[in-house]
Amino acid sequence: MLQGIDPPPERGKVSAGVRIRRVRETPCRPEIVIDGRKLLSFSSNDYLGLATHPAVIDAWSQGARQWGVGSGGSTLLSGHTAAHRELEEALADWLGRDRVLLFSNGYMANLSILQSRCHGGQAIVQDRLNHASLYDAARLVRGPLFRYAHAEVPDAARLLARARPATGTLLVTEGIFSMEGDRAPLPELARVARQAGAEFMVDDAHGIGLWGEAGQGTVAFYRLGQDEIPLLMGTFGKAFGTYGAFVAGPDALIETLIQEARPFRYTTALPPALAVATHEALRRVIGEPERRARLHEWVGYFSRAARELGLPLGPSPSPIQPFLIGSSEEALTLSQALEARGIYAPAILPPTVPRGQARLRISLSAAHTQSDLDRLLEALSSLCPIPA
Ligand SMILES: Cc1ncc(COP(=O)(O)O)c(C=O)c1O
Repeated sequence: MLQGIDPPPERGKVSAGVRIRRVRETPCRPEIVIDGRKLLSFSSNDYLGLATHPAVIDAWSQGARQWGVGSGGSTLLSGHTAAHRELEEALADWLGRDRVLLFSNGYMANLSILQSRCHGGQAIVQDRLNHASLYDAARLVRGPLFRYAHAEVPDAARLLARARPATGTLLVTEGIFSMEGDRAPLPELARVARQAGAEFMVDDAHGIGLWGEAGQGTVAFYRLGQDEIPLLMGTFGKAFGTYGAFVAGPDALIETLIQEARPFRYTTALPPALAVATHEALRRVIGEPERRARLHEWVGYFSRAARELGLPLGPSPSPIQPFLIGSSEEALTLSQALEARGIYAPAILPPTVPRGQARLRISLSAAHTQSDLDRLLEALSSLCPIPA
């Protein structure tokens, strides 16, 4: 198909070599309009459907009336407000951790953690499939970096033993992997980190809000506390439906971030109105467990049906359902064929995923209906018939 030099993309089409931005003309809901076309979307990280929750929208506008729209400065100058402090305290209470620090986004939270914990030459041991922000953070620090095979605890233990510099080691994993949707073996990783005397950090961008009685995420799924996982990062741009991020942990670690993290210090604080909206989203994460229950029902329904149809889904317990294809061209072709049927499920290509592992990243939400899922399953099974 696409060989040699890719042709320039037509409007609304994507080729393997060129990234373009599609223009969405409607809010973040399953029914969207992109480039003038009505589509059923399986592309957003709004897992609980909170991005358009009326109470969260009201909180944002009330917050803007009270605080204005911008924070006016960095958090160490005058950008930190009572709205930020209240959100930090509510998050710390919810997570059962000493203290929480807000960040502009997850990318900067990850840069901040690795920069402040590892600027003295500490080694970083990471899962091979960790998010790009964690690898960019390791590049920023320029210390020794070791990558263990995806979710392989013995390999992590082997590298922790090898890495051990006099200055210490940081073990880093995602809780739910952003492109695979699978869950990291956190209890075992916490154990090998402890045995090696390493610090342990979990990026739970895709797990926070989705597990635990009150939605505290992958750490709640495993019932792990601050002692086992001292550094917990979460984002608000996914299950919370808003924007921003936090790091939760022991007082002393959070204090180090405040004192030393440059991506925390040299940037404008989140708008306080956004902190007010995120605080309302937190109340909904805690108080509307039926959203979590519906999402898990959809994950079970979709993955069972897809497997019965023989579709090549990766083993994922989360709303991220990877439809594994391999070739970038074929992934793009399938994504475009779905789009011709009114379904938006974008192809994910290298370098976002390893070479030869292009896929559709099907993302489910509590806001979907069963008939939305049936429509997707029907389209996938007619486009990918099982060989007889
Ligand atoms: C695992 C993971 N960590 C960090 C981030 C960055 O978070 P943010 O979008 O808030 O910058 C993402 C986002 O896409 C992610 O998937």
